[in-house]
Amino acid sequence: MAMVRIPDENRTLREVTDIKAYLASIQIDYERWEASKPVAPDAPPEEILAAYSAEIQAVKEQGGYVTADVINVSPATPNLETMLAKFRREHWHDEDEVRFVIHGRGLFHIHPPKGPLTAIEVEAGDLIRVPRGTRHWFDLCGDRTIRAIRLFQDISGWTPHYTESGVDRDYEPVCLGPSYLPASFTRPEATRVRS
Ligand SMILES: [Fe+2]
Repeated sequence: MAMVRIPDENRTLREVTDIKAYLASIQIDYERWEASKPVAPDAPPEEILAAYSAEIQAVKEQGGYVTADVINVSPATPNLETMLAKFRREHWHDEDEVRFVIHGRGLFHIHPPKGPLTAIEVEAGDLIRVPRGTRHWFDLCGDRTIRAIRLFQDISGWTPHYTESGVDRDYEPVCLGPSYLPASFTRPEATRVRS
């Protein structure tokens, strides 16, 4: 489930009802989705889209989205750091940024017109909708991995408009999820009982 941090107020939200209510107050939609049938996180895109077709259809009707696809980013992605450098500068789009996470995690920073700057760490099962015109930026976490469904009203509208405010440099991209645990906590052999 997502985690929300409000760095300037030293607050962290971890409960789904608190997260939904807080994000709604800054015009960010947040939902949890479950697949209609089990689907592997590395399944082909058509299977992923089919497993969530009811949810995708509902969101398309709500927001006027016309297409959906599946994006993969991993350490093997060509020019990964160049691409990430573009995402992590404050920007806005002429259309909504809608992402549903299948695998991995990511960190959105939202700069609302009214209200404090907010960091949202998303993981598998999280849907986030950043409305058009909202200032934001995005980082991957330590594992540099995310697979997500994207929904578009018009792909041409997704060009970033950079604010060049520099505010993105004032906030460390801190992920609190599993990739931040020391390696010994994530290796299976660490749980073995010594004989
Ligand atoms: Fe964006």
